[in-house]
Amino acid sequence: MKRGKLVVVTGSEGLLGKEMVLDLTKKGFHVIRADKSLEDAGDCYYLDITDQESVQSMLMKLLAKHDYIDGWVNNAYPRTKDWGKDWKDIEFTSWQKNIDMHLNGYFLCMHKVSDIMTKQGFGSIVNLSSIYGVVGPDFSVYENTEMTMPAAYSAIKGAIINLTRFLAARLGPDGVRVNCVSPGGIIDAQPKAFLDAYCKKVPMRRMGTPVDIAPAISFLISDESQYITGQNIIIDGGWTAI
Ligand SMILES: NC(=O)c1ccc[n+]([C@@H]2O[C@H](COP(=O)([O-])OP(=O)(O)OC[C@H]3O[C@@H](n4cnc5c(N)ncnc54)[C@H](O)[C@@H]3O)[C@@H](O)[C@H]2O)c1
Repeated sequence: MKRGKLVVVTGSEGLLGKEMVLDLTKKGFHVIRADKSLEDAGDCYYLDITDQESVQSMLMKLLAKHDYIDGWVNNAYPRTKDWGKDWKDIEFTSWQKNIDMHLNGYFLCMHKVSDIMTKQGFGSIVNLSSIYGVVGPDFSVYENTEMTMPAAYSAIKGAIINLTRFLAARLGPDGVRVNCVSPGGIIDAQPKAFLDAYCKKVPMRRMGTPVDIAPAISFLISDESQYITGQNIIIDGGWTAI
């Protein structure tokens, strides 16, 4: 690496984001943390991906200090307070709001960032999707728990994978790559009934951890993946293989 590549991680303060920041930093990237829970300070920025003004203003502040944006990781996870309701109980307005915050937020960031990267003539965008953007949920793993998989999640994450392909095709000629990473379930204090059912089904017999996911992000941002675009790397212990 000739100069420290500048990479923005949105949702940097969450379960997966924190490990991405660590892994990218360890590998020599200059990491910018961008999250709704942060205030502007040093390499940390307040960012609300659902708000055009916030995205624009964060990018302006960043470009006032840095010449390039080499990488952008769309990892933030906005959702409504009633997130996680069963299909039959979802209010239409809640569905609409979640699509708007999450899918449209990812679009908004890509729309603005790709403009900068296109002018530079290089850049790599990585979008976080999920196994549930690839396959339907196995509802049996939620039995005997309060948990379920929201319908909007499948719709949003599936859309993100195909928007990734669209943009890879559109931006490839400009030297900008766009890829997805789709994790399976990540361990995070879930109830035992869920853990037992999940681990029984998944071929590797355990849930994922942030450490399983972060290196794929670093790889897709780096030049080691310089001819990879429009792809979806699924990291799920084999969940979608069976
Ligand atoms: N955790 C999992 O099991 C899992 C599995 C598959 C995919 N994913 C995906 O990985 C990504 C990260 O998930 P996570 O589990 O780390 O989530 P998380 O809830 O732990 O963290 C999300 C982060 O996003 C930030 N955020 C929320 N709304 C925002 C907004 N409007 N603007 C900017 N930042 C905002 C939060 O402050 C938080 O720091 C998400 O896209 C999620 O769908 C997670």
